[in-house]
Amino acid sequence: MKGTHDPIAADRRTGGAVRPVARDVSTGTPRSGAAVQLDGASLAIAGRQIWTDLSLTIARGEFLVVIGPNGAGKTSLLRVLLGLVPLVRGRALVHGEAPRRGNPAIGYIPQQRAFDPELPLRGRDLVGMGLDGHRWGISLRPGAQRTRVDGILDLVGARGYADAPIGRLSGGEQQRLRIAQALIGDPSLLLCDEPLLSLDLHSQAVVVELIARWSRERNATVIFVTHDVNPVLRAAHRILLLTGTRWGVDRPDRMLTTETLSSLYGLPVDVVRYRDRVAVLGIDVGGHDPVSHAEPGS
Ligand SMILES: Nc1ncnc2c1ncn2[C@@H]1O[C@H](COP(=O)(O)OP(=O)(O)OP(=O)(O)O)[C@@H](O)[C@H]1O
Ligand SMILES: [Mg+2]
Repeated sequence: MKGTHDPIAADRRTGGAVRPVARDVSTGTPRSGAAVQLDGASLAIAGRQIWTDLSLTIARGEFLVVIGPNGAGKTSLLRVLLGLVPLVRGRALVHGEAPRRGNPAIGYIPQQRAFDPELPLRGRDLVGMGLDGHRWGISLRPGAQRTRVDGILDLVGARGYADAPIGRLSGGEQQRLRIAQALIGDPSLLLCDEPLLSLDLHSQAVVVELIARWSRERNATVIFVTHDVNPVLRAAHRILLLTGTRWGVDRPDRMLTTETLSSLYGLPVDVVRYRDRVAVLGIDVGGHDPVSHAEPGS
């Protein structure tokens, strides 16, 4: 199992753009430098090798999209950064330190599971839980907490249904509330595990733009796992592809080519572009392509 080394120079990690130095709202410290560093990182779960020799640096403010077939270890990568799974070899650093559980600098949108319809919890309660135990939690008076929850509900467009029992909401409505919960602690690193599931095309575009703008304004880093790159093509600075045997990371225009994907998959793959959409032909992995097919008729 061999990895592909990160071919991009540091100054290209953000597409060459010069970003203003944002400051952490609570501490006033600059948010600059590497957000995540992986050096020769290898992961095995239950004795099975998941990915091997993964080395990459994710700059602060970068929007990194992670794609790959089912079981390639995308969720596991996020779990490593959350301090939930140890590496078997190599090193992972989050903001220069070893990953640790409960790191308040990280916001996490887990891969979706539906809420129990009978769950006696309102959307705003879920969002408010994102404050508990975080740096905002202890010092905020109830009035200030409510204002902050309302603000983030407005940001994701979920204010209108925030008082309904969360289990009765649609999958897309629940997903917006999960995003709000992850953003309310003002994390400097946001880990999103397939946050576009259950969202219609318009809502996908809205959510991606919302997260991308939020990231730009705060110089916050986003690691965004998805099975469909099309909604995130404009936001992505780079794409990391995990195939289960190899990996590669590069700018979207260089990653999503017939040559690169065929080489990483070790199979003939065709990348077809139509207007601003990308379709990958020739891979059928468990009903999920790493990059979606274009919509029929689009
Ligand atoms: N706690 C666990 N015990 C045993 N195996 C596990 C555990 N967690 C993950 N795995 C295995 O590790 C592999 C990688 O899982 P992971 O969830 O990271 O994949 P993924 O790329 O996120 O897949 P998907 O696209 O389906 O979400 C899978 O084969 C999975 O079954
Ligand atoms: Mg997953």
